[in-house]
Amino acid sequence: RVLILDYGSQYTHLITRRIRALSVFSLCISGTSSLKTVADHKPRVVILSGGPHSVHTPGSPSFPDGFVEWAESNGVFVLGICYGLQLIVQRLGGEVRVGEKQEYGRMQIEVEKALGLFGSKNCGDTQSVWMSHGDEAAKLPQGFEVVARSKQGAVAAIQNPLRRFYGLQYHPEVTHSPEGMETLRYFLFDVCGVKASWKMENVLDEEIKVINETVGPDEHVICALSGGVDSTVAAMLVHKAIGDRLHCIFVDNGLLRYKERERVMETFERDLHLPVTCVDATDQFLSELKGVDDPEKKRKIIGKEFICIFDDFAHELEQKLGRKPSYLVQGTLYPDVIESCPPPGSGSTHSHTIKSHHNVGGLPKDMKLKLIEPLKLLFKDEVRQLGKILNVPEGFLKRHPFPGPGLAVRVIGDVTLGNYLDTLRLVDEIFIQSIKDAGLYDVIWQAFAVFLPVRTVGVQGDQRTHGHAIALRAVTSEDGMTADWYPFEGKFLADVSQKICNSVRGVNRVSYDITSKPPSTIEWE
Ligand code: XMP
Repeated sequence: RVLILDYGSQYTHLITRRIRALSVFSLCISGTSSLKTVADHKPRVVILSGGPHSVHTPGSPSFPDGFVEWAESNGVFVLGICYGLQLIVQRLGGEVRVGEKQEYGRMQIEVEKALGLFGSKNCGDTQSVWMSHGDEAAKLPQGFEVVARSKQGAVAAIQNPLRRFYGLQYHPEVTHSPEGMETLRYFLFDVCGVKASWKMENVLDEEIKVINETVGPDEHVICALSGGVDSTVAAMLVHKAIGDRLHCIFVDNGLLRYKERERVMETFERDLHLPVTCVDATDQFLSELKGVDDPEKKRKIIGKEFICIFDDFAHELEQKLGRKPSYLVQGTLYPDVIESCPPPGSGSTHSHTIKSHHNVGGLPKDMKLKLIEPLKLLFKDEVRQLGKILNVPEGFLKRHPFPGPGLAVRVIGDVTLGNYLDTLRLVDEIFIQSIKDAGLYDVIWQAFAVFLPVRTVGVQGDQRTHGHAIALRAVTSEDGMTADWYPFEGKFLADVSQKICNSVRGVNRVSYDITSKPPSTIEWE
């Protein structure tokens, strides 16, 4: 496996993903992890990532003491990228200086030695690459050689094949370095002798084995399904491992989309043969939400209600089975568990409490259940691949994300007033269906409607109306952390607006949200 030590580059996770795309298992851990942690992963290759730091800044992050000796005595290959290269140079006795000219963006490099890092016949001697650095290697450690330089003459790549240390000053993982992927492929397979053996089929077999070893033959497991991809794939995997000792629950909290409950239950039962208990808790949720208009309070109430329902579910199972369930399945993904080196000044990587997110699978603390998180090493697209192998229908796997608190964060203010929720469901359905009809569903990360509790004046059928305004939102995003609003054509928006006002009673105004994240968030509340 390939272990990536993260020093805070915005591209670190991309390296992980690129290597996985080569069917090689790669994992990213903090660049300041202890030597024991690094060694415990038993990597064949360690990649030191880029990062925003300078090796000259006191306290800048580095690999642990003893790392070089450990790598050499265990035959481990080490590749430093950008800041990682500078760490190698500085820690192995060379010299890094503040570059006379900073190099940012697309650059040309000249390969001086078509060996080792640049041994691939598929790469040219002149390459276009993506640079992003201020410091540069001024004097190489003993035994190292320069294998490529930038047009300005700065060191672009170094190696010491005897000690198995390599370095690239540019970022091979980004698409702006067109030959970067081939360089990485050649390095891993031909230089380091890594085998391409990491496939989703193997991941499935391995996870099933782990679950079977973890859950005892008489033990039971519960899982809360949200109707989303992650919890569904996680449940399918556990179900494959332990069969009917898995007990799933799907809660209709009255805050779901148009026909959501019928649609997801049909998929669970008809397509996936997954035994699921469906609980209608609409009244319970809505009565707790009555009169509440603060978004955070709404979220907390919903989180608390979910926990009460899980508690009841677990209790009923205990009565039925004669023993308590021991485990809870969660669809946690890799981006949620990666522990990275924070960029300077940011405090911690997990410091954001902009909204308190309550996933439907949120962990009820006093239930004392142990966790099973079979997807915790996977990225979203890998979970989709796994879902495909598990026969989850394609349309289901491509569903847009939906927040745990559901429409409660899309009806601004008190969600229980009038027939706001029903109105929103109809508008949302028209919008989503129009997006699907236009063939745009899969290029958009998330699209939805928001109900605004304001009345505006309109004129419909020669009559003055005093109806509600709604907003439409559609964004593109990689991971939901940042997002851009989607630039629909004017005609598409005009058609949707007309359809909504003509068919949803009480709505006489449609607006389209043209704010990105930041400064907005994706949801309105
Ligand atoms: P924001 O609004 O924070 O949303 O930009 C980012 C992504 O997270 C989803 N979201 C939630 N998901 N519980 C969830 O499970 C929540 O409370 C919650 N709030 C936002 C949102 O839909 C988007 O995909």
